Amino acid sequence: MLADKDRIFTNVYGFQPWNLKAAQKRGDWDDTRALMALGQDQIIEIIKESGLRGRGGAGFPTGMKWSFMPKESKDGRPNFLVINADESEPGSCKDREIIRHDPHKLIEGALIAGFAMRARAAYIYIRGEFIREAETLFAAVQEAYDAGLLGKNAAGSGYDFDVFVHRGAGAYICGEETALLESLEGKKGQPRLKPPFPAGAGLYGCPTTVNNVESIAVTPTILRRGAAWFKGFGRENNHGTKLFQISGHVNKPCVVEEAMSIPFRELIDRHAGGIRGGWDNLLAVIPGGSSVPLVPAAQIMDAPMDFDGLRALGSGLGTAAVIVMDKSTDIVRAISRISYFYKHESCGQCTPCREGTGWMWRVMERLREGNAEIGEIDTLLDVTKQIEGHTICALGDAAAWPIQGLIRHFRPELERRIIEKQGDQLEAAE
Ligand SMILES: Cc1cc2nc3c(=O)[nH]c(=O)nc-3n(C[C@H](O)[C@H](O)[C@H](O)COP(=O)(O)O)c2cc1C
Ligand code: SF4
Repeated sequence: MLADKDRIFTNVYGFQPWNLKAAQKRGDWDDTRALMALGQDQIIEIIKESGLRGRGGAGFPTGMKWSFMPKESKDGRPNFLVINADESEPGSCKDREIIRHDPHKLIEGALIAGFAMRARAAYIYIRGEFIREAETLFAAVQEAYDAGLLGKNAAGSGYDFDVFVHRGAGAYICGEETALLESLEGKKGQPRLKPPFPAGAGLYGCPTTVNNVESIAVTPTILRRGAAWFKGFGRENNHGTKLFQISGHVNKPCVVEEAMSIPFRELIDRHAGGIRGGWDNLLAVIPGGSSVPLVPAAQIMDAPMDFDGLRALGSGLGTAAVIVMDKSTDIVRAISRISYFYKHESCGQCTPCREGTGWMWRVMERLREGNAEIGEIDTLLDVTKQIEGHTICALGDAAAWPIQGLIRHFRPELERRIIEKQGDQLEAAE
């Protein structure tokens, strides 16, 4: 189990105030200038060495991402850091805790990461529904300005850096990094075609890196404690500590920081009070937020909770939003509800997603009632494959994967409903 002394988010439950004074007591903003004096390239090197992979879902190596940013501007365009605080993936609920209770970790991280990638400013894009969180964030940023930690000569480093907080209007798609940039620019939040990638042409056409809240908030601690410390947690290629968000049929749902790669059973027993009704009552788990395929009980029990461990099971770590379902769950209904979510959130730009998400949901609803032909299960699977990888952004994949997981692991349940329904209809006709 992760020792208390190794926790980065020491105020994630809000037992202490979030304000600057309390944050400084917890070690935030402690000689930030000295960290910046390491120099831009050295900071990026340390983050690379630490093995930090993006916490927003895709797990892209953070240091490498920063290194894609131009070191000098040939045409006068500034660099920007954009921090993704949209957190709309069903099941995910960690970034809001950081912002509510530990906002200075994020703001200090913004300065250091922004400095490392030679950014002029950071924009924090926060989900519209996070009203109280946005209030806290605005106030914390103001505190940092008042204390000389942001603005001209930020933290006495000689580097000028601004942080802007921008509130979204509550669309899931605005969490996709290029839709987020469109929305920040005041346009309709629809993903851009890539390339160009944001590091080449991002916000207002300038080189931009988009990072998740947690990715940025952990960086000051990594610099203070060293790459080797962070790398000491988890398995090869899956390093560090991680905020897991455990919801659903556990006895004590919670958000908890743990070492990456902790086995699923240990994570649940130690922190979530076990499965409701005991381990024999576990049906399946969605381990990384609603977009990743479910994993049946027997396969997940001893699985390491990390990027590679869950990929080996045909799923993913995603945001580490662990949705636990016991045997009382109507699994077809649960996945159908997720399909409805993706249908609702599709931005409509590309045909496979716009038409396909609605089509898949309607078939899922019929499968839920058993009101279908057995052959339609394969037709549905085929359609998910035609959507996956054929759209502008990964929302198409996110809509396809939960259904693929359901068919892979619960085909007999889908068939049972159809056969039962057909039996009922025959009986009624006789
Ligand atoms: C439909 C969709 C929604 C997304 N929503 C979020 C989100 O709410 N927060 C987030 O950090 N990343 C989200 N992402 C991932 C971002 O596009 C991007 O990869 C991420 O912010 C990069 O940060 P990281 O490298 O620090 O993980 C979403 C992606 C897609 C396709
Ligand atoms: S995949 Fe869906 S959400 Fe993404 S750009 Fe296409 S229509 Fe929009």
